[in-house]
Amino acid sequence: MKVFVFNGPNLGRLGKREPAVYGATTHEDLVALCVSTGAELGLDVEVRQTDHEGELVGWLHEAADGGNPVVLNAGAWTHYSIAVRDAAAQLSAPLIELHISNVHKREQFRHHSVLSDIATGVLVGLGVDGYPLALRWLASNAK
Ligand code: DQA
Repeated sequence: MKVFVFNGPNLGRLGKREPAVYGATTHEDLVALCVSTGAELGLDVEVRQTDHEGELVGWLHEAADGGNPVVLNAGAWTHYSIAVRDAAAQLSAPLIELHISNVHKREQFRHHSVLSDIATGVLVGLGVDGYPLALRWLASNAK
C-alpha cells in the first residue's frame, strides 16, 4: 500500500528550527525514518515537504484520486487553511493529522485545527516519533 506523508511550511527546516520545540531531527532524517518504518511494515511510504499551499492542495488531490492514506503535518496551515481542509476532505482513505509539538500547550492560536474534525485521528506532541506510530496504525487499519 502506498502511503503519503505530507509536511507543510517550515518543516523542511527541522533540526535548525526552534530545536527546543521541534527537536534535533532533520527533515532528511525524518524521511529516512518514515521510509525505513514503511519498509518494515510493508508500506510504500513517500514523504514530501512544501512551503507552498497550492502544492500541498495538489498533492492531496493526488492522494484522493489514488485512494492513498495520508499522514499530514500541515504546520501553520492547520490553524487557518480552508483550502487545505477542503482538499483533505476529498480523501477516501484514512487521514492522520500530526503535530510534532503539543499544540495545546502552546499559544492559543495553535489550539484550533481546521483539520481535526475531518481527520481519522490526530497525533500531537510525541515529537517525530509520532510519524512511525501513525504509519504503524495505518499498516494495521488502512486497506
Ligand atoms: C506543528 C505545529 C504548528 O502550530 C506549527 O505552525 C508548525 C508545526 C507541529 O508539528 O508541532 O509548523 O504542526
